[in-house]
Amino acid sequence: MIRNKNISFTFKEYDIPEELEPSDLELLKSAIKSSENAYAPYSGFCVGAAVRLASGKIVTGTNVENAAFPSGICAERTALSNASANYPGDHTVALAVAARTEKGMISEPVSPCGNCRQVIAEEEYRSGRPVRIILNGKNKIIVVEKGGDLLQI
Ligand code: THU
Repeated sequence: MIRNKNISFTFKEYDIPEELEPSDLELLKSAIKSSENAYAPYSGFCVGAAVRLASGKIVTGTNVENAAFPSGICAERTALSNASANYPGDHTVALAVAARTEKGMISEPVSPCGNCRQVIAEEEYRSGRPVRIILNGKNKIIVVEKGGDLLQI
């Protein structure tokens, strides 16, 4: 017996950052600022991430590339690892990501890779709480209330 199944989830799109709730706007600005610290000489794709902890603290990260390509790491995992290593009693409630190239901020919302989605899911598993994901683009900003929704089945 074959059954056709369907998965759907709801997410929000915003036209401009200023439409975000103030704490998310602050987080996104931190991610944008953090992208200036990216080490991305191979791709030229400079990514900044910022996580908000339950305590309210913001922790940032960037992508850090390597001549041995697989040794590079994404901004999301740098930020999440930074938070986990330095604030082990706290947990992440939101994660903002922004990316720019030499032409400026990218037009479409940045899309986290599968590895990062997995690490976000682990943080949700660990804390038992959702992580809100804020993905920046010049054309629109996407907000997903639960990172695990990006990794279903
Ligand atoms: N990258 C991130 O840091 N985060 C993303 O969400 C997408 C991709 C990095 C990995 C690599 O250093 C560069 O962007 C190009 O893919």
